[in-house]
Amino acid sequence: MRLLFLGDIVGSPGRNMVMEYLPRLRLKYQPDLIVVNAENAAHGRGITEKIAKELYEHGVHAITLGNHTWDNKEVFSFIDDEQRIVRPANFPAGTPGTGLTFVKTAAGEAAIINLQGRTFLPPLDCPFVTADQLIEQAKKRTKFIFVDFHAEVTSEKQAMGWYLDGRISAMVGTHTHVQTGDERILPKGTGYITDAGMCGPRDGILGMERDTVIKKFLTQLPVRFEVADGQTQINGVLFTLDKSTGYTRKVERIRIDADHPFME
Ligand SMILES: [Fe+2]
Ligand SMILES: [Fe+2]
Repeated sequence: MRLLFLGDIVGSPGRNMVMEYLPRLRLKYQPDLIVVNAENAAHGRGITEKIAKELYEHGVHAITLGNHTWDNKEVFSFIDDEQRIVRPANFPAGTPGTGLTFVKTAAGEAAIINLQGRTFLPPLDCPFVTADQLIEQAKKRTKFIFVDFHAEVTSEKQAMGWYLDGRISAMVGTHTHVQTGDERILPKGTGYITDAGMCGPRDGILGMERDTVIKKFLTQLPVRFEVADGQTQINGVLFTLDKSTGYTRKVERIRIDADHPFME
């Protein structure tokens, strides 16, 4: 099974680039399963039903979220009916939505899990304990298990990677919007990257308009961030999973700049 994951899609620049490039990405990488993080897809804050539908129409099988899950209030009207969206599983019990879902693909069924870190982020339930529980559930149905661990610090993401090694197919970190160059296969077979990076404006600051972010640092006054304009970038990872074990056989980091040729 070939699993293509694209990092946090930021606003319309990110959405437009992802939708423009998905046909070429599909042609080049032939993914059986496409998962994207869309926690910033609606103007940088949350997701709408229309955006989710557009992503599905372009071949996306499942959507992961993060700390911005609830920023667009529309999410409450559809997240409970959505089998293809996961939000961090370690939100308090009773929170709308789910943190584990199963997706059918031509190469078999895959489990998609979303978790959120707790360092410099709200104090959710323990993501490690939640991971244990969900992996037990997922294992009953499939050997293809994918985790998007949405977390701020590299140490927490590395810790999760090592904690899950040999128990899942692959883990990506998300949330920092800056792709790390440490993609690898851990010793027991789990594919790993500390952060997949983001899909969106390349010359902003984490995808947001840079002057306002700099102003925030200079003044410490409240500032409303807007999605940046200009050149865009896609960041993601391709995992090739072994048919019989579910583990990663190959991991490939993807970074595409809209102003550089890609399969043209
Ligand atoms: Fe994000
Ligand atoms: Fe985030």
